[in-house]
Amino acid sequence: MDLPRKLSELAGSEAVLTTPADLAPFLVDHRRLYQGKAAAVVLPETTAQVARVLAFCNEARIPVVPQGGNTGYVGGATPMDARAVVIALRRMHRIRGVDPENFALVAEAGCTLAAVREAAQQADRLFPLSLGSQGSCQIGGNLATNAGGTAVLRYGMMRELTFGLEAVLADGSVISQLSPLAKDNTGYDLTRLLIGSEGTLGVITAACLKLFPLPQATATAWVAVPSPTAALELLQRLRAAGDGRLTTLELLPDAALQLVLQHIPAARDPAVTPSPWYLLVELEGGGTQDLDAVLAQALAAAGEQGLVIDAAIAASAAQRAGFWRLRESVPEAQREAGASLKHDISVPVANLPRFIEAGAALVARLAPEGFLVAYGHAGDGNLHFNINQRAGADAAAFAQREAPLRRAIHDLVAQSGGSFSAEHGIGRLKVDELRRYASAAELAAMHRIKHALDPHGILNPGKVL
Ligand code: FAD
Ligand code: MLT
Ligand code: ZN
Repeated sequence: MDLPRKLSELAGSEAVLTTPADLAPFLVDHRRLYQGKAAAVVLPETTAQVARVLAFCNEARIPVVPQGGNTGYVGGATPMDARAVVIALRRMHRIRGVDPENFALVAEAGCTLAAVREAAQQADRLFPLSLGSQGSCQIGGNLATNAGGTAVLRYGMMRELTFGLEAVLADGSVISQLSPLAKDNTGYDLTRLLIGSEGTLGVITAACLKLFPLPQATATAWVAVPSPTAALELLQRLRAAGDGRLTTLELLPDAALQLVLQHIPAARDPAVTPSPWYLLVELEGGGTQDLDAVLAQALAAAGEQGLVIDAAIAASAAQRAGFWRLRESVPEAQREAGASLKHDISVPVANLPRFIEAGAALVARLAPEGFLVAYGHAGDGNLHFNINQRAGADAAAFAQREAPLRRAIHDLVAQSGGSFSAEHGIGRLKVDELRRYASAAELAAMHRIKHALDPHGILNPGKVL
């Protein structure tokens, strides 16, 4: 079969890429863990084109891999079959409509997250999903991974931020639920089933997203705390003092701050008393509220009880941006610093200090060539429990630590009532982990759902299940 010709008939010749040079960027994941293969990449412009391509591939039993901004961490968007067709959504990048009265926005899957946030802001509204990758990740990828980020504490993950979806199923049929309905109990919730399905149940082509009032006031602080236990106590207090306005509570160890200051030229020392742990905290609210005063008062009271060593409240937009740069640059600084072993874990938030203590002991015992850089969304109980190779350590020895350390950490997560994939998904990287930690009943149900919606297994084979 002349596949390129057939795909050109279905989606237009300008939409089909087949040369090795054109395919190359679609065949490797962001972390460069996987080198993939595929027969073609299709860049559709319309939902009808996606539907035609899927109906054809389903008939011909050709694997299809949806791809967004390709910023995912688990290899989910990388095609692994020489016959595969990648459907890359980047040309479906229209904002179909902004509806400020209904606090809703309909975006096509290929819009970047930054573009969606910008469109909301133009209408005096907030779309609150906030990720370090927002300039390149796409809303379709955010939905397919149920992305989290730094504002989940207040606004939730993508599942909570979505009214409904438009998606194409494996057989080319289209489901369209793009109304901004706060209440809709008509049958099974297909939207929330497709969100987080990582391209294995359908190709998302558009979504009706939830908007919020644009905050008029923001208070941001860089806080030195003595321990994760103190950080968690402060979380409780800021939640109470902030009265629903606490948006962000991110935890960073001093090791993360030092990596950022060393490797990111634009990073500036936050100039607070050095401490083993820091928090980036942010409150957002209406224009008349003096949130700086609320934050200062809560931090001062916590300081008197030894929960805070020192704190700096951002006095300008530039200082606020500087604090955020420190937090958002950690992944890049880690990469610059060399090899790292990553674990995207969550535990019930109150268990976090105990988890960190026990996990740190495992790292010291099982990966002596590395040092722990456990940072992230502590307000959600989610840490990137990462280990960086020490300067001068034996790279091969460090790499060999990966499998036993992963097992020990993920077992500890399970014992702590947690998740081995808090926000990055399963993709290809964590298929074995899902098999190990999900119950037989859960796995069987997932397989039955997959088979019902994609009986020929054409959608993103080898991922998730
Ligand atoms: P891709 O990487 O292209 O794809 C991811 C998965 O979704 C794949 O399985 C793919 O097949 C599927 N997919 C993509 N588009 C569609 C579609 N239209 N229909 C169906 N399936 C589709 N993630 C977080 O959750 N929180 C963070 O704080 C965070 N921070 C990050 C910071 C940096 C610097 C980087 C590089 C990544 C970060 N990520 C974070 C990970 C990543 O950005 C998210 O997982 C993001 O949601 C992926 O979007 P994408 O468009 O790049 O998807
Ligand atoms: C983050 O929160 O910074 C990311 O999810 C983790 C990472 O980029 O390693
Ligand atoms: Zn994260």
